[in-house]
Amino acid sequence: MAERKIKIIDSNNGLESELPVLEASEGPSTIDISSLYRDFDCFTYDPGFMATASCKSAITYIDGDKGILRYRGYPIEDLAENCKFLEVAYLLLYGNLPTADELENFEQRITQHTLINENLKSFFSGFHYDAHPMAVMTGVVGSLSAFYHDNIDINNPEDRDLAAIRLVAKMPTIAAACFKRLRGEPFVYPQNDLDYSSNFLRMMFAQPTEQYEADPVMTRAIDLLFILHADHEQNASTSTVRLVGSSGSNPFAAVAAGIASLWGPAHGGANEAVLNMLDMIGSIQNIPKFIDRAKDKDDPFRLMGFGHRVYKNYDPRAAIIRKICHEVLGKLGDHGDPQLELAMKLEEIALQDEYFVERKLYPNVDFYSGIIYRALGIPTNMFTVMFTIGRTIGWISHWTEMISDPRLRIGRPRQLYIGPTQQAFRQIGER
Ligand code: SDX
Repeated sequence: MAERKIKIIDSNNGLESELPVLEASEGPSTIDISSLYRDFDCFTYDPGFMATASCKSAITYIDGDKGILRYRGYPIEDLAENCKFLEVAYLLLYGNLPTADELENFEQRITQHTLINENLKSFFSGFHYDAHPMAVMTGVVGSLSAFYHDNIDINNPEDRDLAAIRLVAKMPTIAAACFKRLRGEPFVYPQNDLDYSSNFLRMMFAQPTEQYEADPVMTRAIDLLFILHADHEQNASTSTVRLVGSSGSNPFAAVAAGIASLWGPAHGGANEAVLNMLDMIGSIQNIPKFIDRAKDKDDPFRLMGFGHRVYKNYDPRAAIIRKICHEVLGKLGDHGDPQLELAMKLEEIALQDEYFVERKLYPNVDFYSGIIYRALGIPTNMFTVMFTIGRTIGWISHWTEMISDPRLRIGRPRQLYIGPTQQAFRQIGER
């Protein structure tokens, strides 16, 4: 089939050019605009990158209108139903589902790297007593680059792979240490005979004074939540990791930048913001008042956990999380959780309201996850830390895909300059 081209005509001066169309394996094609500046002396303008592809990627596919999410072509529903988190992590990083032997070897490699350098532990005590755990995560993960900076050659595939293993392995240990710091409790070391999520729960909730064994329902719920949060195409934090990594900085610093971006309430910080919002709403009777506030353009209040840049249909992850939510609360006997009842009523009312229906604002992944975390005894300010653990594999898979591309160039967007034209300098006495 002949290559598809898009003709661009500058009606002012009759200039015209044909831009090649790059076809996707699925979803929208893209117009290659790299010749636009040369031919028309113009940049494109797309604040928020609403319609701009920043890269080619083979990792995750999303169809926002159909509510589709696939990791390496596998529907999220199938992966959530049949896999454990490290199986999905292998898929995202290496591009294929592992055999039993491959998975066992991958799990052993992760297990061997779950400890953090003892000197790293002193970083935690340097933070103010009430520092937000996401501030601690950003700082401590960024400091990993100080521990591994010398022995990583990002052009060496083995070094890249070791960095990926280290990040996936150490994130739960660092996250649990953030929680223990908050509680003033001793850190709990990882245990090599436990699986990834059981190990994490033990590091979070075990006490030196008694035995701890993670509830299998809680372990499965956490493992599922890590799967659902693992990757999501070129979201803000993943794009941050790619942009930082494109300069050749080491992957630990790039992932620390991704953590900083995820922290924002418009992004991964929304799960914490949902619970704070439910606390603010307080009762079912108050819901209409807050729905009105969410619709008021003069009011900065937004319905946290609703809406999505890509999904203009129900977020497929939210549908799965909603089911886990009921299972966990049913098992932990907190089914009468006022927050869940409030959340369900809020969802029901919002989904019938013209404003939300017209704008296709559905509950997203963050709407229910916070309620599950709370039921598991995880405090609200740790919710985005939980998102960080799941998303680390997505970040490092995109970083690996980018860095291993020989055509990699540093990311350096341009701008539409609207500032002052040249001005004559005036000495301070003349201003
Ligand atoms: C995540 O990108 C990803 O993939 C992210 C993520 C991932 O896995 O990485 O999926 C995780 O970040 C999920 C999103 C979590 N954030 C929230 O729940 C915060 C609340 N949601 C909004 O802030 C908002 O919906 C965004 C940021 C998620 C999306 O913003 P967009 O795409 O820029 O949409 P928009 O702001 O242009 O909204 C379009 C309209 C506007 O109204 P009009 O100007 O058309 O009249 O919808 C309104 C907005 O005011 N709107 C909302 C709303 N979200 C959008 N109104 C009330 N409440 C909301 N939550």
